[in-house]
Amino acid sequence: MCGIIGYVGYRNTVPVLVKGLEKLEYRGYDSAGVACIDYQKGGISLIKEKGKLSVLKEKIGDFSIEAHIGIGHTRWATHGEPSRANAHPHIDASGKIALVHNGIIENYAELKHSLQKKRVRFLSQTDTEVGANLIGHYYRKSRKLFDAVKRAVGELHGFFAFVLFSKEDPETLIAYKRSNPLVIGLGQGENFVASDVTALLPYTRQVIYLEDEDLAVITAKEVSVYSLKSKSWVRRHVSTVHWDASQAQKQGFPHFMLKEMHEQPEVLKKILSKKIQKGKSIFFDTLDKKFQQSLRKIKRVSMISCGTAYHAGLLGSIAIEQYTRLPCRTQVSSEFRYGDPILDHEDLVVLITQSGETADTLAALREARSKGAITLAVVNVVGSTVAREADAVIYTHAGPEIGVASTKAYIAQLSTLILLAFHIARLRKTISLSELKGLLREFKKIPDQCAKMLKENKKFEECAQKHYTRRNFLYLGRGCNYPTALEGALKLKEISYAHAHGYAAGEMKHGPIALIDHEQPVICIAPDSTTYDKMISNIQEIRARDGIVIAIGTKGRKELEKMADDFFPIPKTLEILSPILTVVPLQFFAYHIAVLNGRDVDQPRNLAKSVTVE
Ligand code: F6R
Repeated sequence: MCGIIGYVGYRNTVPVLVKGLEKLEYRGYDSAGVACIDYQKGGISLIKEKGKLSVLKEKIGDFSIEAHIGIGHTRWATHGEPSRANAHPHIDASGKIALVHNGIIENYAELKHSLQKKRVRFLSQTDTEVGANLIGHYYRKSRKLFDAVKRAVGELHGFFAFVLFSKEDPETLIAYKRSNPLVIGLGQGENFVASDVTALLPYTRQVIYLEDEDLAVITAKEVSVYSLKSKSWVRRHVSTVHWDASQAQKQGFPHFMLKEMHEQPEVLKKILSKKIQKGKSIFFDTLDKKFQQSLRKIKRVSMISCGTAYHAGLLGSIAIEQYTRLPCRTQVSSEFRYGDPILDHEDLVVLITQSGETADTLAALREARSKGAITLAVVNVVGSTVAREADAVIYTHAGPEIGVASTKAYIAQLSTLILLAFHIARLRKTISLSELKGLLREFKKIPDQCAKMLKENKKFEECAQKHYTRRNFLYLGRGCNYPTALEGALKLKEISYAHAHGYAAGEMKHGPIALIDHEQPVICIAPDSTTYDKMISNIQEIRARDGIVIAIGTKGRKELEKMADDFFPIPKTLEILSPILTVVPLQFFAYHIAVLNGRDVDQPRNLAKSVTVE
């Protein structure tokens, strides 16, 4: 959460910073700001505003600043309410150092207290200003910014990233990373640093992903990295980014979310073409022989993730147990990491994350590694921290996902986890080759089936028209589609702000049935499955109490269609694959309800795309 950017080079800086912030705004939008060294005046110019980037842009329009070094920030508030005073960048009390920050400084209160005793004045409630002032304090002593940052970060607890400059050295940016992401973009006569590569793509594809405890000195001509871990200057690998910058644009869609939902068939095609070989084997190019060997020996599996990725993990667990016969638990990262999990070298821990930066998932990964488990990251963002720290990684190839509500990354996670289960099952010989071929034949139909469903958009919208003023929704599913019920409810609540609850249909009698009356919409996910008849019984129970039934089921199920007020058919498929299709109407339903309510679909209130605080 929070997006940070820095630039040093020949271009005029403020427009570069603003363009970068546009790409980073999904990380937080409580306030935004830029600071740069004004070429004419020689001092720091600071412009920051509460609210979205558009507010800042309007403000910037009043200024004409020529600058060649600067930093920018878009905030998701942690310490201190969203306000102009709490917006970044923050300037230290001497007025010499400007700093932007992503993350949390845990011991900020005691440090603030001791700085106040030294008569340092604070203007905000943020932990960030403590970081700026501690650096300022050491800078006053040493007059060397690099040394001051090095000394200060040694005293700061927590996980965070900084980018800063001093007006006394108008050629140099300093960047520091501890857990939260920072990537340097390498240009010709210019260099960049940002929380995320999408901000760099308009300028360069050559990047350096900083590692934890890296302190980078960035000038227009060069980038040097000092590792506080190894206490030495280091050479970090330069990677080439293959993402297409146009993938991160709306391409004529009114919202990123809608665009990303429409990209789902292509994402599925890409995953299947990359991972299925000749229709009879599964290939993960990032898993080496040794790792595959270890997959043969594991005794247990854990799927660990947050939010939407947790729902993907629930289906992943079903697939693992069903096809590999290994016991598999699913847990949200925040519960796993504090739960003192029992793990050893026979455990495979799969960390599922779109961003690869979610703080709790990263901490869960570290916990699993410290206990000797084998760790596998299922990640979308290439080069992200979780991807780099796990023993092995499988990328989900969904491309950049900008809408805060995850859609295409979810179906990419589902598909990848199912393929992973099939793959482990073949390694352990718990399914035969002909069984696998049959499964893959059905899987290959999924992208076209998904594309067909997208054409039903009008019907989804009409259904949303009927219900968009309601404030409570219940989602029910069983087995493979219990996670779909949770995911459908999450999509609706996060972008429409209506209350939505996902429940295991079998649990309805144990409480939620009390909610049912003629005003209660119940979304029943009931494709063909081993529990189809049980779902039908649940739907009868809802009908008997006058509830409104919105059903998702397999095409041709006339009895289901008759029982439902609205029916959304999915093409015939295997039970294990059905969640990839059943979620599509739920994404559209949530999307249209949010639009009809005038919500900010891509940037819902209080949320951010990448949750880098615990
Ligand atoms: C919901 C959503 C979130 C994320 C969660 C984990 O639409 O996007 O619930 O799934 O914050 O994020 P990642 O996958 O980046 O770890």
